[in-house]
Parts: sequence; structure tokens; C-alpha cells
Amino acid sequence: APATVPMELHADEPGGHVSRNLFGQFAEHLGTGIYGGVWVGEDSKIPNVDGYRKDVVDALRKLDVPVVRWPGGCFADEYHWREGVGPRDRRPVRVNTHWGGVTESNAFGTHEFMNFAELIGAQAYVAGNVGDAPPEEMASWVEYMTSPTQSTLANERRANGRDQPWQLPYFGIGNELWGCGGNMRPEYAADLYRRYQTFVKSPATQHIDKIAPGANVDDYHWTDVMMKVAGKFMDGLSLHYYTIPGNFEHKKSATDFDENDWAETMQKAHYMDELITRHSAIMDKYDPDKKVALVVDEWGTWYLPTPGTNPGFLQQQNTLRDALVAAIHLNIFQHHTDRVRMANIAQMVNVLQAMIFTQGDRMVLTPTYHVFMMYKPFMDATHLPLDVESPIYRHGDWSVPQISSAAARGKDGQVYIALANLDPEHAAPVSIKLDGTAARRVSGRILTAKTMNAMNTFAEPDKLVPTAFDGAKIRSGRLSAELPAKSVVVLELH
Ligand code: AHR
Repeated sequence: APATVPMELHADEPGGHVSRNLFGQFAEHLGTGIYGGVWVGEDSKIPNVDGYRKDVVDALRKLDVPVVRWPGGCFADEYHWREGVGPRDRRPVRVNTHWGGVTESNAFGTHEFMNFAELIGAQAYVAGNVGDAPPEEMASWVEYMTSPTQSTLANERRANGRDQPWQLPYFGIGNELWGCGGNMRPEYAADLYRRYQTFVKSPATQHIDKIAPGANVDDYHWTDVMMKVAGKFMDGLSLHYYTIPGNFEHKKSATDFDENDWAETMQKAHYMDELITRHSAIMDKYDPDKKVALVVDEWGTWYLPTPGTNPGFLQQQNTLRDALVAAIHLNIFQHHTDRVRMANIAQMVNVLQAMIFTQGDRMVLTPTYHVFMMYKPFMDATHLPLDVESPIYRHGDWSVPQISSAAARGKDGQVYIALANLDPEHAAPVSIKLDGTAARRVSGRILTAKTMNAMNTFAEPDKLVPTAFDGAKIRSGRLSAELPAKSVVVLELH
């Protein structure tokens, strides 16, 4: 029998604030991420609210999405906001050069996005174009969205149907300037960032946080230069890291994988912890007071596209493996609350590690969606230290701590503990010494399945859903539980 994993919870040593924005999402003009996935138009036969799919809106509202990033991604640095406002039948049709070479109707523009964010109750995080637009475009866009005045731009917004300014708490100055955003060196990008951000002005009525374009994976030099040259001009610095079994040129299947691929995926997801630690250490040099947030505004799995789909649409299935990847990330972010104050999974609907799939009028919630649902109590919670002496799960060349965890005191005052057992073959008995809480009862939810690649499909949409977990109990100040192999568990102490 596997040895019991010892843990100790310190419920009386509250840590940092777990920002609700750690559970954010990203929606790009990519494949059917927006068109078909979110927006079908008012005339569609698919049930909709003012053009937005009703099923998707309802599912997102249930999730309490804190923040959505839009319109890209790579799309952002070729996007010209003026083409997406005014009468839809007069908006220019463009080619989406990054994603599949398909036409972009511009039917979903500023009003459609900002109203969508309001509809689902999320904050807006808009990414501006540094790549192929002058700073004036960014400045006028921000004025159009946020100005309470009678300026020509504000009145144009009113004429287009929106009287009050929208709330725009976050604005990104470009995306991946090291790559699709312009193939810049960090020295150049940092100077350009300084210039562009100068013209992004908060109106008197609200504050707009400026997020600087950040590093790719382990490009620590990028973070160093950005912080050194431009650190004092930013509220956040971005970081992008995708979990890619294989490598970027030779990715592996989303559904057809063995334990070796599973272990590789787990180890690579866990790498996020080292990335955050090392980028944060560089930021600490220039910003010891931690004023600048590290914003992980793209993360998630990236596999081969689903066979038969347009490879430029980045469509992939989502299995129990993705649920574990989501749990690993959401736990890691909570261990870095001093620096990581926003994260956005890529992406919301139909793209990469999607929360939701749509096809025609049908919708499926993915295992990843269900993990986010289980983690809702951690939004705006207070982190609690949980010491874990995790055994190492190994397979082939890959290894990773077997137990991924996070604990917090929720806004409701209750203690929550998230535990994921990354071993796909062996259960993990755990024993948690409970310090600082007199809890006597525990309830929980679990997401698991018999097979590593269990998934939800349009034919069987509810194959993998969270269920009640009754495998935990509290006796004499100790919580013991048996975590099934390949499972995500969230416990609530009473
Ligand atoms: O999420 C897909 C793409 O990945 C984004 O457009 C880009 O920023 C990243 O390379």
C-alpha cells in the first residue's frame, strides 16, 4: 500500500490575497473562439441574447468569470479598432492572417466585446495594437471606451449606442512583441512600451492598469530588460507559457496518449512554478515593493489540432489530463499571490485548453471548465500555508511531485483545500494535521475517471463531471483522505 502523505495546514497563519483574477480567461479572434463560440448574431437560429449564444453566456455566468482578455493574442497587434465600430454592414472584411487565413467580418468589435464582458459579469482586459499601429490608435481607442466627456470620440460611442463609458480596468500594450507582435528585441520593445503607454490615459473617473508585453517562457533577459528600462511605467508585466507535450514544432495528440505523455504533461505543467519563481526574482530586483504584477495572461495545454479541423483554428479535445493541468496551475498561482495577480487561461471557447466547446447549436463543458467551477471558493480568498511532503511521481524520464495543493480561507470564512493526485495509477492516502481550525466535518467534490483520456463529447456531454467526495474525514484534529489516482479534489471544512 502507498505510504500516507503527511501534511500540515496552518489555518491561523493567513497569507496573501488570492486575487479572483487568477481565474481569468482569454478570448481571441481565432477559429471559432468568437464567431460561433460566443457570437452568432441576432438573426441566428441558435438561441441568443442580442447576438451572444445563450448557452455559453449562461455557462460563463455560472462560473463567475472575473476577467476576460480580448481581442488577442497575435490578433491584437494587427487589429484596428475603428473597423469594429459603427453599422455592422459597413465594417470592412479583413483576412485573419494569423489564424487560418479566414475572413474576419469585424461583426464582433468594441461594443460587442465590452457589452459581452458586462453581460457575463467579467472585467475587461483589452490588448492594444503596438505591432502595426501608431500610438494615436491606442490613445483614441481608450478615449472612445472610457471618456465621460463630450469629446467627439465619446459622442461617437454614444451615437453607436453606448452612453456611459465602459469600465476598462486593464489595458495591454501589445502582445508577444518578441514574436507575432513585431519580432522585437527586448531593448527595443521596452523603449517602445515606454512611448506607447504614455498615450494611454486614464480618464478622471477610473484607473486603467497598464500591462506590459512580457516574456516567452524562460526568456529571463526579456523580463530583466523590461523591468530595468520600463518597470516604473507599468502596473503589470505579462508572461506566456504553454504546456506542450513534444515541442512547438512536433506536438502530440490531445486524446491519444500513454502514461509517458501523461507524465511529460504533468512535469511540464508543474514547470510554471519555476518560471514564476525566477521571473519574480528578477522583478524583485527592480520592484522590491511588488507594485508590478506578474500577469500570466496565456497559459494552458497546446496539442495537435483535432484531426479534420483547420489547423489554424487550434481546436483540440480536453480530457481528464487537462483537468489535472488546470488544477496544477491554479494551485501554483496561489503560491505566488505576492506577485501573480492575474492569469488568463487560453482560451475561453473552442480554442486550445478551452473551457467550452460549441458545434452548431450544441455546447459541451470541458473537464477544465469543471475544475474552474470547483475552484470558485478560492476567488478572493486568503491563502493558507499547507506543508506537504509529497512523494515524487515518476514515469520514464519524467518526474513531478505527486500531490499538487493549495489551501485558503474563502470569503465565506470557510477553509478550502484543493488536492490533485497526479499519479494516474496509484491512489494517495493523505493525512493533514489541522492547526488553527476547530473544524470537525469535511465535505468535498471530486473530478476523476477510469481512463486518463476520459472526455466530454457532444454525444456524451456529461461523462466527466464533478461528484460528491465522501472519502475524507476529520478525527482528533487530523483530516485523512484517500485521493484516487488521477483526481482533482476540493475539500470544504466545517
Ligand atoms: O493563444 C494562441 C496564441 O498563442 C496567441 O495568439 C499568442 O499570443 C500565443 O502565441
